[in-house]
This record gives sequence, C-alpha cells and structure tokens, in this order.
Amino acid sequence: MARDKNVGRTDARQREAQRLSTLLEVSQALSGTLNLKASLHRVLEILAAQYGAVRGLVSLLDAGGELRVEAADGIGEAGRPVRYQLGEGITGRVVESAKPIVVPRVSREPAFLHRAARRPELAHEELSFVCVPIVLNRRAVGALAIDLKFDPERTFNRSVKFFGVVASMIAQAVKIHRLIDEDKRRLLDENTHLRQELKERYDFSNLVGSSGPMRQIYEQVTQVARTNTTVLVRGESGTGKELIAHAIHYNSLRANKPFVKVSCAALPDSLIESELFGYEKGAFTGAESRKKGRFELAEGGTLFLDEIGDVNPATQVKLLRVLQQREFERVGGIETIKANVRLIAATNKDLEKAMAAGELREDLYYRLNVFVMFVPPLRERKADLLLLADHFLEKFAREHHRPIKRISTPAIDMLTSYHWPGNVRELENTIERAVLMCDGEVIHGHHLPPSLQTAEASGTVTRVSLRDAVSAYEKDLLQDALKTTRGNRAKAARLLDTTERIVNYKVRLYDIDVRRFRA
Ligand SMILES: Nc1ncnc2c1ncn2[C@@H]1O[C@H](COP(=O)(O)OP(=O)(O)OP(=O)(O)O)[C@@H](O)[C@H]1O
Ligand SMILES: [Mg+2]
Repeated sequence: MARDKNVGRTDARQREAQRLSTLLEVSQALSGTLNLKASLHRVLEILAAQYGAVRGLVSLLDAGGELRVEAADGIGEAGRPVRYQLGEGITGRVVESAKPIVVPRVSREPAFLHRAARRPELAHEELSFVCVPIVLNRRAVGALAIDLKFDPERTFNRSVKFFGVVASMIAQAVKIHRLIDEDKRRLLDENTHLRQELKERYDFSNLVGSSGPMRQIYEQVTQVARTNTTVLVRGESGTGKELIAHAIHYNSLRANKPFVKVSCAALPDSLIESELFGYEKGAFTGAESRKKGRFELAEGGTLFLDEIGDVNPATQVKLLRVLQQREFERVGGIETIKANVRLIAATNKDLEKAMAAGELREDLYYRLNVFVMFVPPLRERKADLLLLADHFLEKFAREHHRPIKRISTPAIDMLTSYHWPGNVRELENTIERAVLMCDGEVIHGHHLPPSLQTAEASGTVTRVSLRDAVSAYEKDLLQDALKTTRGNRAKAARLLDTTERIVNYKVRLYDIDVRRFRA
C-alpha cells in the first residue's frame, strides 16, 4: 500500500515536471518568431507531442467579430477555412462567455458542431474536448480547443488549468503581435502619405524661374529623366542642385521607388564605404548585424551623391566599379550584389582642378561626366530673382500666418543690386527673415538683413559697417512713420516714441523729403 502511494507520488511529480517543460517549450515557440500563425501551429504540435492532444485548434476573433481558425493541428485535409459566429458551437460559446467548457464524451454532446474535420483514423474513436478562452484585457479574443483521447479516469480540473496557462501565454503573443501590426500599419500609412507629399513637393512645378538658363534646365530635366543616364549637376552652393536632382527622379519611371541621398562631405572617410555599400555582420567591431547600404536602399530608384567632389580615393575606386559594372559587395562580404540604381551626382567643386591635383580619379571623372547640367548662380539670372522672391514671400507668409502682400520698391532695388553669394538659399533665408520681421503688409528695406542694406549704394558688398546699417534702418523707420502720419512730424515722433526735435534733426540728416508723404 505504502509502496503504491510512493509510486503514485513519483508519477505525479513526473507529470508535473512534464507539464512544466511543455510550458517552457510553448513559451519558447511563442517568443521565437514574429510569425503568429507559425508559432501557434508550433504550440499545437508541442501539445500533441507532450500532452497527447489528438487535435488542436486556435481560433481568434477577426475584425468583423467572426471567429477564425488561426492554427490547427491533427485535423484532416480541411480545405476551407473554418469559421464560427460568436456564440455558435462550443468554441463560440467559450469566447462569448470567456469561460472554459469541457465535453467529457464528444459523441454525447449535441452542441458539438464537428465543423473542423478530424483525422480519418480517429473518426470512430471516443474523444474528450477541452476549450479554454484566450483572454486579452479581460475580454475573450479567441479560444484554444483541444481534443484528448477519452479516458474514464481523467480529471479535467488539471487539464483546464494547464490549457488555461497555455491560453494566457498565447494571449500575450497575440497582444504583442497586434501592437506590432498596428505600428506597421501606422508606418505604412505614414510612408504612403510622405511619399505623396514628397512627390508633390519635388514636382517640376516647384522649380521656380523663367530665365533662359532655367528654361534650359527644364528641358534637360525632361530630356534625361526617362533615361537611366548618370547625371552630374554642377553649380555654386545654394543654386538648387538638389532640387533639380529631385525633379529628375520624380519625373522618371523610378518615381515610385526610393530617392536616397548621400552627403559625401558629411560622412567621415571611415564611414562612407559602409554607408554606401552596407556591411556584413562582424565586418568590424560594432558590426553586430548586417546592414544595408544606400545603394541597396535605393534599389530600383535613384541614388543622389551630393558633394561628389569630396569622396576619398579608396571609395572612388568602388564607385567607379558600381558605375561600370553595376555591382558591388558589402563591406566584409563576398556576395556580389547587383545594383539597379540611377545615379545623380552633384558638386560645387571645380572637378577639373581636383583632377589635376590628383584628388579625383580621371576615370571616375569621365564616368560621371556623361550628362552634365550647369546651374548658373543667381546673380547671373536676375530675371528669376523677383519670381523667386515672390515665391518665397508667398510660401513664408502662409507658413508663418502673416498677411504680407508685397515687397516695396526700395526693398526690391536692394534685392536686385545684391550679388547673392549664397544664391537661392540665401534669398530664401533673407525672405523668411523679412517675413518674420515685418509687422505690416509690405516688406520694407529695413526688414532685409544688414548685408543688403548698403548694397544699393555700392553694387556689391561683402562688408558692412554697423553705422551704415543702423543709419539705413533708422531712415527706413522714419520714412515708414512719416508715411503713416502723412508727413506729420509730431505724430511720427510719438509713433517712434521720440521727440519732434530729434525727428526734425534726422529728417535733415537723411535728407528725407517730407512733402512726399503729404498726400
Ligand atoms: N529654382 C528654384 N526654385 C525654387 N526654389 C529653389 C530653386 N533653386 C533653389 N531653391 C531653394 O533653395 C534652397 C537651396 O537649394 P538646394 O539645396 O537644391 O541647393 P544646392 O545647389 O544643393 O546647394 P549646396 O551645394 O549648398 O548643397 C532650397 O531650399 C531650394 O528649395
Ligand atoms: Mg545640395
């Protein structure tokens, strides 16, 4: 008798150990992959192998409130996906009530729908059925249903508890999966939206300018966009090289594929190769996993190599190979990767000089020099200047919610006589600054930065004295105030929070003709 008891205890302990190891395997299966269906299927296989389940089903509620079988093990060749309505059949009832149901003898249960087929060899065998809810945030989101061989001695209490634990592990996996799914969907939406926005922003129509050189650029963009030719865009800093690269991409057949930019000058020599070509796991210390380079990211699309004149000689060799053979290897890798990428390069450097100085390989220079576009500096296309200024005025007035309508004639004179060493970018910044400084409807000379203040007088200016800048600003303020008060000096003085005596003095000093304002 005592011996029997001991045997019983050992058996119980063994069963307990068996259950724990099953649970461990289940948890590993659920955390091992991001593919929910596959991991659920693996869980059912483990339950079959370790727990003697002859059939298993995991059903989950879908968005339409229908129960759908996510994974099944031990069912026949069921062709169609099995579905239940909420409350329908035993599984449906379990989900509706969030309570487990046990059917000790399936053959005696009229509620059993037999919807999921069984393996033929089990067709005539008596089975027991255990179904537990999968509960997430206190709501059942599905059910785990298990068939066991009928055994008159079986106590179902333990089985229900055990499968309950498995179901709660599944619930955690479902939760994580849904979070990831949600994130993925959000990112996808965002991506589509951003792509559309990019396309609109870099559409052809965003290139402003009607001067001869700009018209020639539009023609060139149209001409080259639909080919796969390498394009080199040259021009001073801020002339719009990047904008032109965008225009080429978004007018090409690759428009729906990525446009990837690499700023060669911004990357240190040690990083540029792995940025461009990617690296394999373990290629260098810190390379913990494989990383795709920009060439791979741009697959099917366009790679924009900005500041190509700043690439080091070792990288130049590799670039040359991609340009010639359209293939490359990742850093530390042996696999040769084909690159289907259109290249656009840009530079503000004198490439010929760099070549003569031995900084640029001659063969690379000729490879890049296939279709060259020269963007002239802004000072050589004055015709575009006012168009651009108006374009930026409208843009920034809208962006900063300012009711600004126009630029005053003296301010226009200042804009046109300045030599714009920073080109369109400098003009853009100048107008934004002016919009922020302006509190009326018109941009005046004093809203422009000091570098432009004396440009009118000297034609080109690189240096400006504080005194001149302050004087110009003061004169502008005075004229503005006198205009507002229709030449009334006393009122103008009050507007400017000063005395009439000072206003009179400054009017004489700056030679302002007050009669002009007495309209
Ligand atoms: N024709 C144009 N129409 C409208 N905006 C322009 C035009 N040209 C340049 N811009 C604007 O001027 C700014 C500078 O242009 P971009 O960055 O393309 O110049 P870049 O030639 O690449 O300069 P860098 O050599 O300094 O990189 C951008 O904000 C761009 O939108
Ligand atoms: Mg640029």
